[in-house]
Amino acid sequence: MGQMIGSRIWGVGTAIPDRVVTNHDLATMMETSDEWIVERTGIRERHWVEDGSGVGASDLGVQAAYKALDMAGVKKEEIDLIIFATLSPDHDFPGCAPIVQTKMGLAPIACLDIRQQCTGFVYGLSVADAFIKAGAYKRILLIGGEVHSAGLDRTTKGRDVTVLFGDAAGAVIVGPTDDPERRIVSYHLHADGAGALDLCVERPGCVATPRFSRQDFEEGKHFPKMNGKKVFRNAVTRMPEVVFEALLANGLNISDIKLVLPHQANLRINEKVQQLLGLPDDKIFNNIQKFGNTTAATIPLLMSDALAAGRIQPKDLLCLVAFGAGYTWGSLLLRW
Ligand code: ACO
Repeated sequence: MGQMIGSRIWGVGTAIPDRVVTNHDLATMMETSDEWIVERTGIRERHWVEDGSGVGASDLGVQAAYKALDMAGVKKEEIDLIIFATLSPDHDFPGCAPIVQTKMGLAPIACLDIRQQCTGFVYGLSVADAFIKAGAYKRILLIGGEVHSAGLDRTTKGRDVTVLFGDAAGAVIVGPTDDPERRIVSYHLHADGAGALDLCVERPGCVATPRFSRQDFEEGKHFPKMNGKKVFRNAVTRMPEVVFEALLANGLNISDIKLVLPHQANLRINEKVQQLLGLPDDKIFNNIQKFGNTTAATIPLLMSDALAAGRIQPKDLLCLVAFGAGYTWGSLLLRW
């Protein structure tokens, strides 16, 4: 009898806009400083698309997708499902997956958009794994992509949120494997909607008629708002918890993990998570210093950087872990 089919990542690609926005650049737009941002978040710079360039999350997603296809040695015509995770889609609706599909000339394959914010990539990879194990699809393009810069309040009023975010996309090709030593091992996903309004964009929102008014605009309700301290407290609790949940479910110890790839929302969050997990420095990887929080793009960006730095070798046990708006959080173990 053959090995049970599992899934694995066959290729990773990223797209990072050329424009670098340093903390000093932000200090010319609002009352903030390099010292404050570095001390509280670890972020030194982020990339934003050029204002008015018309570049959306779908464009960055397409660029990342072609690079992931190259690494995987897969032709675009072989893709049979596109999953797109984003909180900053080109349009309110439809989602980015069909837009990417058209830009890549892949109609009429299936397209799925998911809205799990910073946990979007972990949710997306779990969905891809389940579809492949079910035999429904064989070559899934999963993209996490964001153009946050267009939606941020660049005045002092928005500084608590605006300094955190950057634009980017990351893509992976997920396909079947019968190799037990190189596959997605498990995923553990959670959410708690009681925290939904702690980090959200309120308008446009169809709980109001009209869903976007002049008053909403004047009050800045189209900008993200965040209860930073509450989100921080939840992130440092939930991330270690869901890593331990994954280890327990698989009869593994923290020492079995080769590298933890955590979502990059704040370096202080990740330092606390590292401490709570008892991880030495060589078992966790961060790159928030260069990119800020790129939400659904963060984990593939991190994966790509860790590969380039030689920190990931075949068969290594990796743990992806994320927490974000919703609240949503989750961990995913995979043997690279
Ligand atoms: N520059 C300078 N001063 C600032 C800035 C800034 N950019 N932002 C806030 N401040 C000020 C505040 O006004 C406040 O001033 P006050 O004391 O005079 O009132 C002071 O700095 C302290 O503000 P706090 O909000 O208490 O700062 P804190 O140490 O909590 O850091 C931060 C804020 C960085 C946002 C932190 O709370 C955080 O990282 N939270 C979690 C973010 C996160 O995990 N998000 C989830 C993922 S995102 C997603 O899913 C989309």
